[in-house]
Amino acid sequence: CGIVGYVGAQQASDRPLDVVMDGLRRLEYRGYDSAGVALVADGAGVLATAKKAGKLANLVEELDLNPLPAATAAIGHTRWATHGAPNDVNAHPHVAGKVAVIHNGIVENFASLKAELLAEGVEFRSETDTEVTAHLLARAYADTGDLTAAMAAVARRLHGTFTLLAVHADQPDVVVGARHDSPLVVGLGDGENFLGSDVAAFIAHTREALELGQDQVVTITPDGAAVTDFFGAPAEAHRYTVDWDAAAAEKGGFASFMDKEIHDQPHAVADTLLGRTDAAGRLVLDDLRIDESVLRSVDKIVVIACGTAAYAGHVAKYAIEHWCRIPVEVELAHEFRYRDPVVGPRTLVVAISQSGETMDTLMAVRHAREQGAKVLAICNTHGSTIPRESDAVLYTHAGPEIAVASTKAFLSQITATYLLGLYLAQLRGNKFPDEIRDILEQLRQMPDKIQQVLDRADHVRATARDMAGTSSVLFLGRHVGFPVALEGALKLKELAYIHAEGFAAGELKHGPIALIEEGQAVFVVVPSPRGRDSLHSKVISNIQEIRARGARTLVIAEDGDDDVLPYADEVFFVPQCPTLLSPLLATVPLQVFACELATARGLDVDQPRNLAKSVTVE
Ligand code: G6P
Repeated sequence: CGIVGYVGAQQASDRPLDVVMDGLRRLEYRGYDSAGVALVADGAGVLATAKKAGKLANLVEELDLNPLPAATAAIGHTRWATHGAPNDVNAHPHVAGKVAVIHNGIVENFASLKAELLAEGVEFRSETDTEVTAHLLARAYADTGDLTAAMAAVARRLHGTFTLLAVHADQPDVVVGARHDSPLVVGLGDGENFLGSDVAAFIAHTREALELGQDQVVTITPDGAAVTDFFGAPAEAHRYTVDWDAAAAEKGGFASFMDKEIHDQPHAVADTLLGRTDAAGRLVLDDLRIDESVLRSVDKIVVIACGTAAYAGHVAKYAIEHWCRIPVEVELAHEFRYRDPVVGPRTLVVAISQSGETMDTLMAVRHAREQGAKVLAICNTHGSTIPRESDAVLYTHAGPEIAVASTKAFLSQITATYLLGLYLAQLRGNKFPDEIRDILEQLRQMPDKIQQVLDRADHVRATARDMAGTSSVLFLGRHVGFPVALEGALKLKELAYIHAEGFAAGELKHGPIALIEEGQAVFVVVPSPRGRDSLHSKVISNIQEIRARGARTLVIAEDGDDDVLPYADEVFFVPQCPTLLSPLLATVPLQVFACELATARGLDVDQPRNLAKSVTVE
């Protein structure tokens, strides 16, 4: 879910609502099942709320029909439903007496708390766990007359994960927030202050931010922000300046954020690479705060991640094992934690997460650290929870990714894992410095080559539009082309709601080939003919096998690979590069394909149904 809070000008005005609605617009990628706002109206003890199921546009319409009064403070929420269907009643804010509350996360003990409140005669309007917190807060406020103390008292009683924000009708200049295992940042303005799930909520107004720690309560007023722990003791929050601006979070002339982010990729990869070598051409990963002796003694790497980030981990396995000769396992974070994995002090766990907030990944990080492993986060969002709870972090610097389906974060995650692999190889002497310098040089050429793929994308787009009516697409790849195939299928599922599956091309004959019938569309990611052993010819054989059974073959191949021509219905050529680096190129046509096909079907590519950008529940 996305959360925004604002308190500002002492005079009641439209600004609180404007700021909160703008923040919600920027946070809508975090969830779009419903949206709502609450305002402290005019200092005369009035609370005004509006909420609507569906996307933010529905709330905007509602506010046009039934405008809210001028205000001094406001909170707003955009929801990804957990408890209760995404309807108007279950939308946030939830009101109890003079208190309005919004919430991100899950209150796990809500049933027992609700039973306690029901026994006292409290009536509930919604099915949500959040409404329970609103009633608890109203009661705690009645006891203390202090919204901050009341929030701390409620936070102490909750189990699970939560960010809570609250306003009270009698406190016109105050918004209070609390966080436990769920994100919340403070924006510091001039005579006004902000709260948000992430900095996108207030980046249009200030770049000065406070990163709240775990189990903290924050109280913002027009003059400042005060932070305490859940027992009311003053606490420290880390102050920093956000390094991207509002323009980076705008569409910049593209039809969708996804389209823009696909086109951002040359920059994203270049920025991930920036400043990582010294004058002598040696890799320096300054932010990697793990002792070199520990990194030298690592005997196993386990990559944990979810969704697209996990496919970046698959690519990393091929590269790191080849360069470093360290065994690498890749595991979905939600599976890792629950299967008693073998990790110890000599295991390096690499947690990959664009948002740094994915709860499944965070829980796996905690589990790994409890087992004594060192955890390195590869992350795109500064100040987020996963890097904070890891031993070290390698930031991808891809800039904000707004579209729900990941694109530039994927390429920059892969790039970061290459840097890690090469760094470990350098540190452990697995490769000669010249070899590492050579691969780094090749890597530095990748942004230009990605740009070339984008410049040639018209053919992909035309093919996608032609195929708008298709109902199933398969994706085949081998070696690093396998995770590319998986990612290509995921993009199509996420965006176009089409049946799409990725397979290892070699596995085809062991089952999936039964799916091939006349006209079945199959993308094949062909490895470089200059690459390893006979991999190229094996994949060419795979194409022949499916073509013979009626498949329509859509082939991604390297420039100059004429061997594919006799067997391809369409070929999308990409520039030549070393095989291990090729996912940075081969993925791009598949992203463009999914984006264009979904657009041709009239779908919203930035906010696909049922999804959310960062899933902060398990
Ligand atoms: C969600 C998103 C995916 C993303 C995954 C991991 O499922 O919809 O696009 O790949 O989370 O997100 P993370 O922020 O941890 O990379």
